[in-house]
Amino acid sequence: MNETSYITTPIYYVNDEPHHGHAYTTVLGDVLARYARLRGRDAFFLVGTDEHGQKVQDAARANGVDPRTQADRLVVRFREAWRGLRVEYDDFIRTTEERHRRVVVEVLQRLWDAGEIYLADYEGWYCVPDERFWTDKDVTDRRCPDCGRAVEWLSEQNYFFRMGKHREWLIEHVETHPGFIVPENRRNEVLGYLRRPLGDLCISRPAARVGWGIPLPFDPGYVTYVWFDALLNYVTAAGYLSDAERFSELWPSVTHVIGKDILITHAVYWPTMLRAIGLPPPKTILAHAWWLIGGSKMSKSRGGVVKPLELAERYGVDALRFYLVSGIGPGRDADFDEDVLRARYRSELANDLGNLLHRLVDMIGRYCDGKVPAPGELSEADAALRRSFEGLPTAVFGRVDALEVNRAALLAVEAVGSVNRYVEHAAPWAAAKEGRVGDVESVLYNAAEALRLASVLLWPVMPERTAELWRRLGWDAPAPLSDGLSWGGLAPGAPVASGEPLFPRLEA
Ligand code: ME8
Ligand code: MG
Repeated sequence: MNETSYITTPIYYVNDEPHHGHAYTTVLGDVLARYARLRGRDAFFLVGTDEHGQKVQDAARANGVDPRTQADRLVVRFREAWRGLRVEYDDFIRTTEERHRRVVVEVLQRLWDAGEIYLADYEGWYCVPDERFWTDKDVTDRRCPDCGRAVEWLSEQNYFFRMGKHREWLIEHVETHPGFIVPENRRNEVLGYLRRPLGDLCISRPAARVGWGIPLPFDPGYVTYVWFDALLNYVTAAGYLSDAERFSELWPSVTHVIGKDILITHAVYWPTMLRAIGLPPPKTILAHAWWLIGGSKMSKSRGGVVKPLELAERYGVDALRFYLVSGIGPGRDADFDEDVLRARYRSELANDLGNLLHRLVDMIGRYCDGKVPAPGELSEADAALRRSFEGLPTAVFGRVDALEVNRAALLAVEAVGSVNRYVEHAAPWAAAKEGRVGDVESVLYNAAEALRLASVLLWPVMPERTAELWRRLGWDAPAPLSDGLSWGGLAPGAPVASGEPLFPRLEA
């Protein structure tokens, strides 16, 4: 049986439009799913929207519409963004869907019946935009310790999930499963969090205050806390309580791709919820760093928004995807800088990749009648090139396994640089002048083949431009694409095609 990769993104709040940060996580998930498929594995890539709770309710009120209308409008924007960024998801879940409501209600009822949920008085500081309670010791100057915005003092009866009792087990699980929380600094952060006492989790909101949510099945005076509702999307979409076979295939392989801002909800709340309903924790949580703008976290609620579709329009979808994916590693924040995007567009994409293709097609046109030549005997340089490209898939996939997709992409791009050097060194134009036809053909074949192989490894990041590159090289990409990973894919005799630059010159 094929190995399966189940990959998820956060489900984003529908209080505002998708921005660059959402685009990053979603493209990263898409790239991981595509790498899985490129390796001949089955992948299931889930995206979606988080539609309940106070944040969405408040946004709807501010816009003068009901929350349902607010959600319906914003979902269109997310779908548009993902289509525009060539994100190929297998499912888009909305938490307002009936399939999800059923799961949330069933889980709550089971936990209530099992005594895992109880009613108690609650007092604390509440951050409305973050939908999060804080204790007195967390809060100074009535400011949210996380986002710095004003908190309100709330005192009410609420329902609690017995989360605290899972602390010892969770510490043990984190410690014995190094791949559970990635990268390392995030894993340490979770262990640090768990070193302190772990309280129970407030999982309700009085319906009178926050009406927009899934009513508790055992008390209609309350709706479900948005995070308790939202996290369950990952099992709903995998077929939990509806398709046992699918669920058992998908769940063991799940990787949650998230930003580090929602690490604790995913790495602490979520595994304890799963444990309480008898399910294993997710295999992997990849909590990536933030894209900063001018040194601070850009987000819709804090301003500084860069519109992803505008950038895609300006630079092409693939160039944007390349910058997003390769410009930041999992563990360290990076500044989003359009000047850097432009500089990398010029050097790595237009110059190294685009120009190499252009030159090869041009020389094949001139010296080989516009048809992919047949390779002859391998010189030492040819053999070295071939060897290094035969090892490239393993090297790239190794970085993917480590969830360092930025490095995976950079390895493939650096390999393109090495083809450029090979061509410079072999100088087929000089060989042509001297009438060494066999040498010309060999060099052009090897260079084009190496470029093809590197481009297959770049396809998950740049699905559109790589497909165009293959067309120019006269390569019929096989299905599955994993069949195109070995040396020797280009067919001698296939006609190459010239055309516009793969990455057009940028306006000044
Ligand atoms: O938290 N850099 O939704 P949300 C990188 N609904 N990634 C960023 C980013 C930045 N500057 N800003 C946002 C929620 N993100 C919940 C999730 S999941 C069950 C519920 C990305 O709309 C990053 O993935 O606030 C972050 O975790 C997510 O957007 C938060 O999106
Ligand atoms: Mg947020």
